[in-house]
Amino acid sequence: MCGIVAAVAQRDVAPILIAGLKALEYRGYDSAGIAVLDGAHLRRLRAKGKVREVEALYEADPFPGGTGIAHTRWATHGAPSERNAHPHASGRAVVVHNGIIENHAALREALRERGREFASDTDTEVIAHLVDEALAQGKSLREAVREAVGQLHGAYAIAVLDVEAPGVVVGARRGSPLVAGIGIGEHFLASDVQALIQVTRRVIYLEENDLVEIRRESVEVFGMDGTPRQRAEQTSELSSDAVERGEYRHYMQKEIFEQPRAVADTLEGRLGEDGVLPNVFGVDGESLLTRVRGLHIVACGTSYHAGMVAKYWIESLARLPVSVEVASEYRYRDVVVPEDTLFVAISQSGETADTLSALRETARRGYLGTLGICNVPESSLVREADLKLMTRAGPEIGVASTKAFTTQLTALALLALELGRLHGLDETRRRHLTAELKHLPAAIEAALQCEPAIEALAEQFVHRQHALFLGRGAQYPVALEGALKLKEISYIHAEAYPAGELKHGPLALVDEDMPVIAVAPNNAMLDKLKSNLQEVRARGGELYVLAGKDTGMEIDAERGEVIEVPLGGHFVAPVVFTVPLQLLAYHVAVLRGTDVDQPRNLAKSVTVE
Ligand code: G6P
Repeated sequence: MCGIVAAVAQRDVAPILIAGLKALEYRGYDSAGIAVLDGAHLRRLRAKGKVREVEALYEADPFPGGTGIAHTRWATHGAPSERNAHPHASGRAVVVHNGIIENHAALREALRERGREFASDTDTEVIAHLVDEALAQGKSLREAVREAVGQLHGAYAIAVLDVEAPGVVVGARRGSPLVAGIGIGEHFLASDVQALIQVTRRVIYLEENDLVEIRRESVEVFGMDGTPRQRAEQTSELSSDAVERGEYRHYMQKEIFEQPRAVADTLEGRLGEDGVLPNVFGVDGESLLTRVRGLHIVACGTSYHAGMVAKYWIESLARLPVSVEVASEYRYRDVVVPEDTLFVAISQSGETADTLSALRETARRGYLGTLGICNVPESSLVREADLKLMTRAGPEIGVASTKAFTTQLTALALLALELGRLHGLDETRRRHLTAELKHLPAAIEAALQCEPAIEALAEQFVHRQHALFLGRGAQYPVALEGALKLKEISYIHAEAYPAGELKHGPLALVDEDMPVIAVAPNNAMLDKLKSNLQEVRARGGELYVLAGKDTGMEIDAERGEVIEVPLGGHFVAPVVFTVPLQLLAYHVAVLRGTDVDQPRNLAKSVTVE
């Protein structure tokens, strides 16, 4: 899981490659490298750390060259280091690679027996050797890449150049995204269109098992059998504003504040007076959703938390049983699929390896159909699911997911409402919930006004080692998401529990060094939650409560605080209460001086198992 950029142009491509890598750092940022051909002269720069390390090396000693490949890495095989950074070279072949070659050990062994020596611990290097072997037999670069990928098992996207053939780069994709960019007399490849909008909006999204050859004057796509394939050119609508930080200090902060707009976009054109408009789930949506008798929701990370909230919603509004599971477990389990079960995959990127594999398992497991909830229209998930619902969050750059989560919740609220309509939810309630959902962007806007109070609260957490988050009902997954945000970007150890579970173990952790954050909207569970919170207070725990209006919460000012959050209605409250938790994690991280947008060891898009 990494980012790839490649270019063939008349101008010098190193600055384009470096700018492209910066736009792809969300995919990994532990080491980076570029390789550029000037005629048949190869220059390769690699460095541990972020792309700016490579940029500094380049700026200290710039070089010309119109053919190049580049990479930003999230280590899978071999520690982050200069020798393991891509591009990897062997003889004439130079390769960048995203994904995992599952049979690399066997290939490496065979290559060693043929006298090949390895310069890195990566799985990628086998590709360089295989391509070089084929080039040495007189094959063209395209043929050589085709032969090499024919021997690979796993999921990957690659870009390869031949030192003796300047002016051409060959790419291939199987299981990892790759897009070709079309310029005037210059062409590009990248893992994501975000890397290309600096040079072009004209793109071709490559499909599974496509092989692509770019030259200055042409882009040609082939199948793995070598026959030409037609792929339509599209114009990307991604605006450069969408991927720039503007006045904000971090992308995460920008993305938190974009939520009213992003949620409004997700709702736009999808809600009438009494529920979801026709065909929002596609022309086949209604007939399929009518037949559904249960749902299996599968996702990873933050998207999994969105699925957990949806379980509460769908069970209550549509009276359908819902199970929610992380994809890495689901895919290897002997799952029982009752008749007429709908499989729902939730993924911001639509490229998460475990989620995609789970989706691909469904054909064998006998589902009624599949629904993909996703933020990236060109993603594998959207292409492969029967029904799709786009979240319209726009590009999310910060590794810790914020607007992608709240727009997923918004899309899932639409799903819950629609399933409710088709499975007996009465019209009056539907109208009420629809109105609440329409008001959600404004409710999020109001919740954002808590920022000064949350910023002040963040001071209490700067020197903490641990924190406990509590919620009940649909606020339990919100507490999980709050804890995940804090872990991800501030590196404070945080756990979340359903408040009722406190006395079954975690209460033992509570003392004056364990701050407890409770999510407490004014709902039917409030009194139960209050008793749970008394248990914390009685043990001297410090209690910070995000409370709905009129909850009557009072806290000894010395031992905690209550911050009032405008509820926005009971249905949408999980979305609204997420916002102050995001802000809390953000401000704690800023105070601790961590790398907010690119926290250590993580990556935004996990395209490896
Ligand atoms: C990574 C990201 C998380 C994200 C998860 C699932 O771990 O860091 O923020 O929630 O992947 O990603 P997806 O694109 O499938 O929603």
